[in-house]
Amino acid sequence: MKTYKLAVLPGDFIGPEVIDATIAVLDALSSKYGFSFSYTRLPFGGSALESHGTPLPEATKVACGAADAVLLGAVGGPVGRHPWNRVPREQRIESGLLGIRKYLGVYANLRPVKVFKGLEHLSPLKSEVVRGTDMLIVRELTGGIYFGKPSYNRADEGLSTDVYTRPEVERIARVAFEAARLRGGKVTSIDKANVLDVSQFWREVVIGVQQAEYSGVELEHLYVDNAAMQLVRSPRQFDVIVTSNLFGDILSDLAAVIPGSLGLLPSASVGGQVGLFEPVHGSAPDIAGQDLANPAGAMLSAAMMLRYGLNEEAAAKAIEQAVERALAENPTKDLGGTRGTQAFTEAVVRAITKSAG
Ligand SMILES: NC(=O)c1ccc[n+]([C@@H]2O[C@H](COP(=O)([O-])OP(=O)(O)OC[C@H]3O[C@@H](n4cnc5c(N)ncnc54)[C@H](O)[C@@H]3O)[C@@H](O)[C@H]2O)c1
Repeated sequence: MKTYKLAVLPGDFIGPEVIDATIAVLDALSSKYGFSFSYTRLPFGGSALESHGTPLPEATKVACGAADAVLLGAVGGPVGRHPWNRVPREQRIESGLLGIRKYLGVYANLRPVKVFKGLEHLSPLKSEVVRGTDMLIVRELTGGIYFGKPSYNRADEGLSTDVYTRPEVERIARVAFEAARLRGGKVTSIDKANVLDVSQFWREVVIGVQQAEYSGVELEHLYVDNAAMQLVRSPRQFDVIVTSNLFGDILSDLAAVIPGSLGLLPSASVGGQVGLFEPVHGSAPDIAGQDLANPAGAMLSAAMMLRYGLNEEAAAKAIEQAVERALAENPTKDLGGTRGTQAFTEAVVRAITKSAG
């Protein structure tokens, strides 16, 4: 039986709680699909800063690089209450997150946005607008204006450079087209090609990749301003969105509001040797240790790990269906249900045990 080596970074506050819940689900699933997992828990974030003097110890980095996938909970502590918030910038917890992403060389950030049946009322948008929303935003993560040179802030002038090379656009386009093949078969590439040369280049390269390698996938283009309107007006129209670092940063946060709860959102960062999978939410110190953390985002991140990191599509679907069933029966307290972390986890495990295999 194949054993996948998982590097597990539980992190702080509710991080370990949602990770424990997710491991219970992975264990329930594994033997049914002919594989198992070995877990190596590694210090990371505020707890690592306390024990090792850095949020990202060297040994954690090395173990992540040698794993089949990295599963992360959440990191961070409340300002002023913990000493790690008074440390120099390079020792801050956020630098650990950026550090591990950089070390793993992940260049594609995948953020699904799904509105679950029966939970439409949580959205700040009208239920009839959001019902059935199920999209995946693929954001380029290591290029574009956040990293372009030259870049400066002088007394009389500021400058940032938006630059993309052909290989950078080709590889992110492939991630989007591959994902679309596993989903609804449609990619929307978002740019500002009516104004920006770099966007015209982006659009031409994406079209080239589609014509040469993915003619079975539908491709459309939207300007970013129109895309922002469409996401709010009619989010159901999207399947896979692919876009640059800057536009993806803004649009993925806009879209994250649509399902109405942070606790439900998973994410993946892929493209390097090893992928990193983590819920979108933070460490939620306000609810830690009270059986209140919604583990759905972390469990759905594990489903993304199975799909995009380990190529185990059937097992990924089994987690997603079990989470969806448990949410429909009786969701967690943050969503208006009565289940705590433990009871929700047990419900997901039950759904997997009954149906998978
Ligand atoms: N990727 C990460 O690890 C990450 C992301 C965002 C924030 N942070 C850090 O987390 C700490 C807290 O930040 P914040 O309060 O702004 O954001 P947060 O996501 O931790 O919490 C925001 C609100 O959502 C609730 N919430 C979050 N996740 C939940 C879940 N799974 N179930 C139920 N409720 C949930 C919290 O109780 C809180 O009221 C800070 O130190 C911040 O830097 C880390």
